[in-house]
Amino acid sequence: MVPRCLIATRSPHKLGEIRQILADLTFIELIDLQGAGVPEEPQEHEIEKFDTFEENAVAKARHFGAKSGLPTIADDSGLVVDALAGEPGVRSKRYASAQAPDPESADRLNNERLLQRLGDTPLAQRTARYVCVAALALPGGGVHTFHGTAEGLILGHARGTGGFGYDPLFYDQRAGMTFAEMTPAEKNARSHRGRAFRAVGRFLSEQRDRLLACPTRESDR
Ligand code: IMP
Repeated sequence: MVPRCLIATRSPHKLGEIRQILADLTFIELIDLQGAGVPEEPQEHEIEKFDTFEENAVAKARHFGAKSGLPTIADDSGLVVDALAGEPGVRSKRYASAQAPDPESADRLNNERLLQRLGDTPLAQRTARYVCVAALALPGGGVHTFHGTAEGLILGHARGTGGFGYDPLFYDQRAGMTFAEMTPAEKNARSHRGRAFRAVGRFLSEQRDRLLACPTRESDR
C-alpha cells in the first residue's frame, strides 16, 4: 500500500514538470487537486498574497493540506529581473493583467510587458533568475521548504515553443538555448523547479519509513 502525497497546483504545466522530476519516487502516489477532490474556488488566488515566494508556497501547502488531509506539496515560483529591481517576482503570474482570459494570453501579455519594461537595456544587463520554493506541509503541522534557482538572460525576442510562461525569453547561457528551446528533460535538469523538487524527492526518500507509517495509506482510508 502506497502513501499518497498531494501536488497542489492548478497549473497543468507545473504539474507535468513536477511529475516528471519526481518520477523515480515510486514508493509514493502523487495525486493532483482533482484526484484529491479539491474543487477550484474563485478566491484561491488570495492565498498567495505575500511578498516572498517562501510565504506564498507555505500558505498554499497549508491551505490545500488542510482541505485534503494529505501530505501536500505546493510551489511558488517566478522570474526575478535585476535591471527591474526584482520585477516581476512574486507577481510573475499576473504581471501584465490580473484578468487575462486564459493562461496562454496571460503568458503572452506578461512577456510583452517584460520586453516593454526592459526596453533597449543591453543584453549583458538583462540578467535574471527563476526562483522556485516548494513547501511540503505534513498532516501533523510540520512544514519543510526547498529552494531552487536558475540563472539566465532575458532576450529581446522570443525563441522556442516549449515550456510555458517566460521560457521563450529566458536564455540559459551554458546551454546556449532558451528554456522554450529545450526538451522537458533538459529544462528540468537545469530549472529552478527541477532543483527545488529534486531536494523534495531526496527529503521524501529519507523520510520513507515515516511516510509509510502515516495514516494516508490505502488500507487506512
Ligand atoms: P505561481 O503559480 O504563483 O507560482 O506563479 C508562477 C508564475 O511564474 C507563472 O505563471 C509564470 O509566469 C512564472 N514562472 C514560474 N516558473 C516558470 C517556468 O518554469 N517557466 C516560465 N515561467 C515560469
